[in-house]
Amino acid sequence: MSDDFTARVAENAAAVERVLDRLLPPAEDNWPDRLTEAMRYAVLGGGKRLRPFVLIEAARLFGSTGDGVVRAAAALECIHCYSLVHDDLPAMDDDDLRRGRPTVHRAFDEATAILVGDALQSLAFEIIADPETDPDPEIRIALAAGLAKAAGAGGMAGGQSLDLAGEGKTLREAEIVTLQAMKTGALFRYAAEAGAMIGRASAEDRESMAAFGAALGAAFQLADDLLDYSGNTASLGKTAGQDAARAKPTLVALLGEEKARALLAERIADAKAALGPYGDEGRMLIAAARFVGERG
Ligand code: IPE
Ligand code: IPE
Ligand code: MG
Ligand code: MG
Ligand code: MG
Repeated sequence: MSDDFTARVAENAAAVERVLDRLLPPAEDNWPDRLTEAMRYAVLGGGKRLRPFVLIEAARLFGSTGDGVVRAAAALECIHCYSLVHDDLPAMDDDDLRRGRPTVHRAFDEATAILVGDALQSLAFEIIADPETDPDPEIRIALAAGLAKAAGAGGMAGGQSLDLAGEGKTLREAEIVTLQAMKTGALFRYAAEAGAMIGRASAEDRESMAAFGAALGAAFQLADDLLDYSGNTASLGKTAGQDAARAKPTLVALLGEEKARALLAERIADAKAALGPYGDEGRMLIAAARFVGERG
């Protein structure tokens, strides 16, 4: 990783965390203390903040920087954190460890974990609807509609449904690619597209960014599955070997480690190719793709 990239990751993560800390006040008037504490636990306890990074750097590529961009990135991170809290529930992947700490339902209780997800999802849209995120109501509506779609039945939630239905079954490669594009790809694609929207990019540029985000998302889930297969719990901060234990439909399980690594390299190449039109300006997003490729 170049120093440049590492520094930018830290800078963007710090900016997003400052905004999230402000948007999740520990003593908001009518927010129950326990729910608030659990929401803060879910959101402020680490994480790579990679989706916010992509959104912020995509916006920067089209000339937009500042608080509004960081707020949009924070909204996306709320959806991502909600997806993790629910993903870990006993009814889903039944995980005890997340980001190096007990999962929300372990540290609190299951009902609280469900409500944390509900409340974070609502908070995400509250953040986007606020004129501080973008002064143009048409952009705010486009950001909200895009996020709703990416998180919903045709995106993350739908992909999670297919992932659970596929446990113990042998899905075809194309079916796994589709479910991963939904459960993980949709939020990455949105990250890149939302940055382009805020940057008032042309339709053509939005398409390029969507292609970049989709390829990066596919690569990201491949790397996550490879790490679950060959990584260790201590460095992952979540329990390794869970996919095999739950007979999850992954490309690693279907095709083997070597073929999955080759596919990861292909998706990284796709992601970089989508950034071709931007030359050196795209270097932070290229570095993000390289980072994802080297994780797996
Ligand atoms: C984990 O996402 C869930 C997947 C889509 C594989 P991340 O690996 O981005 O989780 P954090 O936010 O860094 O903890
Ligand atoms: C989760 O995929 C994707 C989400 C939408 C949260 P995983 O189930 O592989 O994520 P981890 O490995 O638990 O982080
Ligand atoms: Mg899962
Ligand atoms: Mg999981
Ligand atoms: Mg995983």
